Amino acid sequence: MNSSRSSEQIQISHLRCEYLVAPLGIDEREPRLSWVIASSRRGARQTAFRLRVASTPEKLAAEEADFWDSGRVESSQTTHVVYAGKPLCSRDFCHWHVEVWDEAGNSAISTHSHWSMGPLTQSDWAAKWIAADPEIIRRDIGAIAPSLTEPGTPALFRREFEVPGAIKRATLYASARGLFELRAHGKRIGTDVFAPEWTDYDKRIHYRTYDVTTMLAPGRNALAATLGDGWWSGYVGWQETRARYGSLENSLMIQIEIELVDGQKVFVNTDSSWRCNTGPILASDFMMGETYDARRERIGWDEAVYPDKDWLPAREIAAPTASLVAQRSEPVRVMETIEPVSLKEISSGVFIYDLGQNIAGWVRLRVKAPAGTRVAIRHGERLNPDGTLYRENLRRAKATDVYICKGGGEEIYEPYFTFHGFQYVELTGLPFNPGAAAVTGCVVRSATSDAGRFECSHTGVNRLWLNGLWSQRDNFLSVPTDCSQRDERLGWTGDAQVFLRTASYNMDVAAFFTKWMVDVEDAQTADGIFPDTAPRLREGGNYTGLDGLGGAAGWADAGIIVPWTIWRVYGDSRIIERHWNAMVKWLAWIERHNHDGLRVNELGNNYGDWLCIPGDTSFRTHSPMKNLLATAYWADDAAKMAEMARVLGREAEAGRFQVMFEKVRAAFQREWLREDGRLTVETQTAYLLALAFDLLPEDVRARPAEHLVKNIKALNWHLSTGFIGIGHLNPQLMLTGHADVAYRLLLQDDYPSWLYPVKHGATTIWERWNGWTEHDGFFLSQMNSFNHYSLGSVGEWLFRHVAGIELDPAMPGFQKFVLRPFIGEGLEFARTSYRTMHGMIESEWRRDGKDLFWSICIPANTSARVHVPSKSDTDVMESDTRLEKQGVGIQVSGRKGNFLICETTSGVYKFKSTI
Ligand code: BGC
Repeated sequence: MNSSRSSEQIQISHLRCEYLVAPLGIDEREPRLSWVIASSRRGARQTAFRLRVASTPEKLAAEEADFWDSGRVESSQTTHVVYAGKPLCSRDFCHWHVEVWDEAGNSAISTHSHWSMGPLTQSDWAAKWIAADPEIIRRDIGAIAPSLTEPGTPALFRREFEVPGAIKRATLYASARGLFELRAHGKRIGTDVFAPEWTDYDKRIHYRTYDVTTMLAPGRNALAATLGDGWWSGYVGWQETRARYGSLENSLMIQIEIELVDGQKVFVNTDSSWRCNTGPILASDFMMGETYDARRERIGWDEAVYPDKDWLPAREIAAPTASLVAQRSEPVRVMETIEPVSLKEISSGVFIYDLGQNIAGWVRLRVKAPAGTRVAIRHGERLNPDGTLYRENLRRAKATDVYICKGGGEEIYEPYFTFHGFQYVELTGLPFNPGAAAVTGCVVRSATSDAGRFECSHTGVNRLWLNGLWSQRDNFLSVPTDCSQRDERLGWTGDAQVFLRTASYNMDVAAFFTKWMVDVEDAQTADGIFPDTAPRLREGGNYTGLDGLGGAAGWADAGIIVPWTIWRVYGDSRIIERHWNAMVKWLAWIERHNHDGLRVNELGNNYGDWLCIPGDTSFRTHSPMKNLLATAYWADDAAKMAEMARVLGREAEAGRFQVMFEKVRAAFQREWLREDGRLTVETQTAYLLALAFDLLPEDVRARPAEHLVKNIKALNWHLSTGFIGIGHLNPQLMLTGHADVAYRLLLQDDYPSWLYPVKHGATTIWERWNGWTEHDGFFLSQMNSFNHYSLGSVGEWLFRHVAGIELDPAMPGFQKFVLRPFIGEGLEFARTSYRTMHGMIESEWRRDGKDLFWSICIPANTSARVHVPSKSDTDVMESDTRLEKQGVGIQVSGRKGNFLICETTSGVYKFKSTI
């Protein structure tokens, strides 16, 4: 389809502010605006834009931009345009649109979008922090079931108030130490769960903003809140006690600001006039589960005119010293529901449901049973050979919800403040078969939007990609966690960094990682050590991850890798600017403690190539392999710092980091490279890091690659890497001319391989290659998660090298990019799409014998260097015509090996070639 220039209008979509769609209550004073332009016309591009921001929609419609009118700016920029209008104040409501001009002289105006500013200073907060009077528990729950006061019993709060006239706008700001669920007039406010989300509560606490204009009404209103434990006071990680931030007391702060049509303002703030009580939730905790007694529901408590005389006044308590900040990432929500694929009664009264998919979330229970019936819902990822739930790998997480029926009809229950990682559900306590409809799986995660799709001719590979996506869905819950089921679920920095590129192909994770990077920096020690897990839990004075863990090679280095990757993928230079000092401090720490360019990291942990084969899970010990790995990461950190310094215009620092890189690289070669191109530490990962981080002299690169292949061959074409090496394995094989070996490893389904778990029914990525084997059954339960994304980092390779959608080395953000698929034996086709900040890239190839058909779509306002796999220049066709030097939107620029290279503008191109 050769489309030529036309007057066809371009379309503008995906208006976003700080990566989010119409966010409310942000605290970024110079927010960045982005949009996407689309056109099917080849070469369509933006030549100019004009942003208008106004205080009301009417003003914007009249093009009266009282906040900001950028004027016409001659530019192709559509992402991260920094707001440069009137300084923004607390509560400003900003309505905006963008007008763009294209190269054909057409112009178009987008629909309207908006964002609002939250309270920007501490003095904007008038509400008091309130906590429940412990007496409510003593007089009530304590008497019924004293043992249930551990874990915590969520409290209810309520307050009634008058609204004296018609409402123009009502905004509710809320924060908590703990988790809240809010209701007004009998309805839930918002669709987010687990708010406010996890941060280092000693340093910052999120507030959330809700538009409640239509939820309140003139006259009497009621606002109600349930307050649970969550990360603040519940069990976190493998810790044996609760309250990791020092207090078991949950507290809540709500500030409602109502503007009436007549100009009056009404404020409703939490204080001791709020009343508190216990409710139906007897106990709730992330790890342990929730116990809910429906007979204790307080009907009408969230509506006006409710008799709350026996409720006690809430206690005002000291406000936290930590800063209150807006949450800058997508909230956690129920994103989808799943019906079971089977139900079995494995013994009398024990019903096992299989959801057919390992998820993170909870069960929506639907039952009809007499009052007092106690239904226990237990969760597990796998079944034992006898059909019972396999739960040993949950360690101390009880992962059990209990629902006590109120009787009198069908009852539907979903827990409030807990989640579990599970595929199988066991129901007990019902004197009859509850039927398949009793259980629905609710998938709960951060609401990051989908970005990529991958499909190919091999069903196992498709499932492998999907398993990585599911492990991402199940573990991107407020922070990138290692696993979703056992007593851990921590933001392990190593896991996050090895999977980050895969994650960014699967979903738009820019806002998610922008938020988490703040947690990583918050956990950095005064000396500069980045943590092994973030957010930090309070463990005494200094800052680092859980149990004081920090500084591990490949883990702590996430402090550099994450900002660098977000900059590269999303063209976001602000994240590197914001974390620059922290990154410099980290490298200064490494330099202070390691001499001669070798990183032996005596003061930090070293997990090595975690869970490689054969594995070594000691992390305080050192070995040549661990030192090699640490040194390689040091070199790579320095190289990334030099690159980022250049972007920030910090030339002197760029030079200094370049010198650091050269020094560490030289030390690496001195210590581990032999003359014959072999490394003295001969593991797959040692070779992979040397290649991926450019640690070898140019003239010897081919030889280590051959040794790597020899190593793989010696294992009868099997991989043996752990978390650190695995993501580099296929990319490096491909880039060193061993695409055949990469495809062979991909399609291998004997242990150990990516497809081995797939062959045995995995629906997520397993923590370890041998989580379960035919020979040994389950691995030791102490560390055996079936939902750990790290070994799923092969997803990156599927997008980058199989589909060929790759960043331009010189330009971040995909406005200019590379398309270069490596076609290999075993796949007949691959079909991929990937939504970038600039729109959807598509790459779809199909082979038929020696013929290759490849169609690509390059979004408007972008261009690509396209590498067409082909034996010779003469047989490449594009849209049924022989590709000469030049066509509409495309220009041949040369040949490199088996690729014809073309420079292309936006549009759809269909190639046919012989391979
Ligand atoms: C976690 C990880 C983590 C590791 C550190 C494990 O317990 O589950 O995935 O990276 O510890 O080595």
